[in-house]
Amino acid sequence: MAQMTERKQYSRFTPAQRFEHIVLLVSFTGLALTGLPQKFSAEAWAQSMITALGGIESVRIIHRFLATLLMAEAIYHGGVITYKLFVLGQRATMIPTLRDLWDLRDWILFNLGLKAEHPHLPRFNFGEKAEYLAVVWGTLVMVLTGFMLWNPIATTRFLPGEAIPSARAAHGGEALLAVLAIVIWHMYNVHLKRFNRSMFTGKISREAMEEEHAEELEAIEEGRKPVVFPQEVVVKNRLYFWPFALVISTFLVAGLIWFITFEQTAITTVPRQDVVVYAPQVTPASADPAVGAALWPTIRCARCHGDDASGGSGVPALRGLTMNFDDFYQIVRSGRDQMPAIGREEIPDGYLLHLWAWLQSLQPKS
Ligand code: HEC
Repeated sequence: MAQMTERKQYSRFTPAQRFEHIVLLVSFTGLALTGLPQKFSAEAWAQSMITALGGIESVRIIHRFLATLLMAEAIYHGGVITYKLFVLGQRATMIPTLRDLWDLRDWILFNLGLKAEHPHLPRFNFGEKAEYLAVVWGTLVMVLTGFMLWNPIATTRFLPGEAIPSARAAHGGEALLAVLAIVIWHMYNVHLKRFNRSMFTGKISREAMEEEHAEELEAIEEGRKPVVFPQEVVVKNRLYFWPFALVISTFLVAGLIWFITFEQTAITTVPRQDVVVYAPQVTPASADPAVGAALWPTIRCARCHGDDASGGSGVPALRGLTMNFDDFYQIVRSGRDQMPAIGREEIPDGYLLHLWAWLQSLQPKS
């Protein structure tokens, strides 16, 4: 008999709740895997991840797809809560109350050995409520800052320009916080302390109930059921709920589409991979011939103008250049006859300054 009660399982999550959890799990993990490499784009591990995921453009597309999935889930979750609270008359079991504070206090005292009894916790205990609210809060922050990064032009129509880097800092910081909360807090409480599979099986063991939800267990054993609206009230409420839900969700889905199609451009979260901007703000005074010399063999100019810039058939020598930077810049950027125009994305302005200084420093060959 004792053994039987040990193995007894209690129902904890409905299939619909488990489905929501899977959507959250997939979108959260995917968002972290595609977001963190963007935050730490300078690191080698981030570069390998970006390459493995098909390059930065595909990383950004996956990130946005998953963000859309998460927002759709948030809208759905809002509908579920509204239904449970206002149609079925269930209690808001996820909202923290003063009682959770006392539970937390008693739990700490218990762990310190200053209290003999572990607090009898309700269906959702203080730790679970905190984690749930962290998800709600985190999603709000990420959606808001994500919108600003996704639509920077629209944002700066209403807010000063600094809003964009601030949003980026907040987005990355909150992401890191969320990932750490999951890896440390959630991992420990749900997987390490006791491997709790209830989010997948829907069932929880008696042992876990005794420790984490003793109060709910007592209620179940005494046959006490949570008070909800009587059936006829539910039927009446449903009549109001569906038209209301239809209108609100139409608005929210329209809002979601508006969100993801707002503008074509979006901030480049990672510097372009084909050029490394050495020093975009170089001024003529800081132009360094040594840098120009180092750059020369790596760029296209050398192929026509020669490895030592002494020119070739039909291509002028550039050694001992005398023209001023503005003329040099004009020729490179606009091209001339056989000389192709070479754009900023291939060779940034700063590079040109160093090249110009180096070419000037060379002795012309006789
Ligand atoms: C496809 C071959 C090619 C490449 C690549 C090329 N050039 Fe040229 N460049 C030429 C030719 C040909 C001319 C002569 C154009 C003319 O006759 O007006 C020229 C002319 C110039 C001139 C004018 C020289 C003068 O004395 O009037 C400058 C300066 C110059 N190139 C710089 C560069 C730099 C810097 C790069 C790399 C960023 C570069 N070129 C890349 C072919 C090339």
